[in-house]
Amino acid sequence: MPVAKPEKLPRHLAIIMDGNGRWAQERMLQRIVGHQKGVETVRNVVETCSVLGIGYLTLYAFSAENWLRPKTEVKALMALLKKYIRTETPRMMQNNIRFNVIGELTELPADVNQAVDEAVAKTAANNGMLLTLALSYGSRQEITRAAARLAADLAAGRITGDAINEELFSSYLYTPAIPAPDFLIRTSGEMRISNFLLWQIAYTELYFTDVRWPDFNKNELYKALNDYQARERRFGKTSEQLDTRR
Ligand code: FPP
Repeated sequence: MPVAKPEKLPRHLAIIMDGNGRWAQERMLQRIVGHQKGVETVRNVVETCSVLGIGYLTLYAFSAENWLRPKTEVKALMALLKKYIRTETPRMMQNNIRFNVIGELTELPADVNQAVDEAVAKTAANNGMLLTLALSYGSRQEITRAAARLAADLAAGRITGDAINEELFSSYLYTPAIPAPDFLIRTSGEMRISNFLLWQIAYTELYFTDVRWPDFNKNELYKALNDYQARERRFGKTSEQLDTRR
């Protein structure tokens, strides 16, 4: 199934990758096996999006709340992340992908941070797709941190109160250089946002599928993108207003 209109792709695609654990449990396997399978999906989705010409891909890889999972699972996920970043950097170079991370990185183990820093530095001059992994990420934490930093700048006289608007506030988030997502996919049946990019998704088109993340193949991605292409984004306006703009 090809994408119907290559010219009408989301500029920024964000994905909540859910269902690794259930995929494994349904097969009487350990949850970590589901995460390992999930990494293969990540590889395929990253490659497909970059070839399609999507500008920004943001993946929710580890939430601020995921630290509460059993220690063994957290450890295994951190090891998988480090391995993924290390082994995929050459492929990112081949595909001209720039690597980026958002989240509370100080919480991450030192070896993961080191792998992140190396991949960010190595891919910094690439100008193809920007791949962002959300790691130890929580949107309320992000917004609170932005408010605190803005308050500090205000108190220090670096900004004035009347300069505060949406654009200025956005610049204090983790994502100042990234446009808002056009399309958000969540796999595995849950109909919630789970503290992901709350500010940024104000006008984002949402897509939910029952397919578990390890089973989210190229065909499923195309299906989602075709669904996006059939939508009309009105940003609060009427259809007629949009028609006259065309
Ligand atoms: C959700 O499945 C997935 C995660 C918590 C982490 C996502 C991680 C990966 C896809 C692998 C590592 C990531 C990268 C970028 C290499 P779940 O465990 O919440 O599934 P469940 O809801 O069925 O239990």
